[in-house]
Amino acid sequence: MSDKNKNAGLDAIESASIDEIRDLQFNRLKKTLNHAYNNSPVYKKKFDDAGVHPDDLKTLSDLSKFPFTTKADLRENYPFGMFCVPQKDIVRVHASSGTTGKPTVVGYSQNDIKTWSDIVARSIYAAGGRPEDKVHISYGYGLFTGGLGAHYGAERLGCTVIPMSGGQTEKQVQLIKDFDPDIIMVTPSYMLNIADEMEREGLDPHETSLRIGIFGAEPWTNAMRQDIEQRLGIDAVDIYGLSEVMGPGVAQECIETKDGPTIWEDHFYPEIIDPKTGEVLPDGSEGELVFTSLTKEAMPVIRYRTRDLTRLLPGSARTMRRMDKITGRSDDMLIIRGVNVFPTQIEEQICNIQELAPHYMIEVDKKGNMDTVRVSVESSMINSTELNQQLAASLRHKIKSYIGISAAIDIVEPGKLPRSEGKAKRVIDKR
Ligand code: DLL
Repeated sequence: MSDKNKNAGLDAIESASIDEIRDLQFNRLKKTLNHAYNNSPVYKKKFDDAGVHPDDLKTLSDLSKFPFTTKADLRENYPFGMFCVPQKDIVRVHASSGTTGKPTVVGYSQNDIKTWSDIVARSIYAAGGRPEDKVHISYGYGLFTGGLGAHYGAERLGCTVIPMSGGQTEKQVQLIKDFDPDIIMVTPSYMLNIADEMEREGLDPHETSLRIGIFGAEPWTNAMRQDIEQRLGIDAVDIYGLSEVMGPGVAQECIETKDGPTIWEDHFYPEIIDPKTGEVLPDGSEGELVFTSLTKEAMPVIRYRTRDLTRLLPGSARTMRRMDKITGRSDDMLIIRGVNVFPTQIEEQICNIQELAPHYMIEVDKKGNMDTVRVSVESSMINSTELNQQLAASLRHKIKSYIGISAAIDIVEPGKLPRSEGKAKRVIDKR
């Protein structure tokens, strides 16, 4: 990596002062706003309609005058209408499937791919990875940004990459056994699936060569972190990102603090807004995360609304700000008889009961006018009916007292619930 601080192995900017970071952000933001305005008819129209011009940016906080960008903007300009460089300069596209309609398409220039690789390399380093490590990648390769994003970053750091992709769970286990990787990059739900397969084959998940897991692409709780760390005897750290902003590596949790992902603020400017009014909230407030890219060429994003709910926290292991673990996406929030519930809240309660495995599904339905919730969760071993009844009662009680809703609980045998090979689908809403 260029510009390394030789002593600590960090990029120089990782230990810069806040003032230096803000100066860099201002200059890069100015450049990005001009680039978007001058090279994208979509952004030009959005800025003109809102009556703002890149010259109106006099301080970083003036960014709040500029209009938001949403997934709908990307859909309306499907597939390539948001690109700000000629087609000949686009070296790669990715797409995120989304639950409805057309995928959203993103494009990268050669420099964008280089920047992305550098930031993922920085992320793996912050996670405790070093050039001599072997990295097993089980994020899916293809249009999803997870596999290739992780791959280029691990290679950039100088690691040995094992590009396994998602799926073929038995083969995942075989390669982990035979190739002795130090690091695995995978969704936390698929990690559990792989650990189950190890046990099925009589291999103790604690006994593998793995030292670190870099988990992301879906929400997971600190309770899940503890579960995974204990079961596999590894350090589990959080990697965050989204295709529209770049892919994995927008933010990465540092192994020495494990206190929420550090946002790589030299490339992405974060804001937290009130999702209803769009008003910018002060650091520390819970709200929707919004990102403006600071260095992207092919597809800069200005104030992209992620729908992810979290808060901005002061820097700890690095000067740059952190984000709290994502509570959930505003689209995933369930409103159950007026109470706002995120699947992660239910996950937390499940992980607090040792006899339950963190494999669960939440089914929401309506009986007459009443919302009903059924949580199906696997026990960690086959139990007597009495014990399962006790476990169900205990979970029902915790959900009622901590979250405030009444839920029916089904305790099912280990292995009975569908397994994900990538992002887990936790909720079936039949209303
Ligand atoms: O999931 C990029 C990625 C790949 C991140 C691999 C980390 C590891 P998308 O498919 O566009 O991109 O989905 C982005 O996934 O807006 C969040 O809702 C969710 N998400 C990603 N990382 C995390 C995380 C990739 N660490 C969407 N915690 C985001 C919680 C996450 N949610």
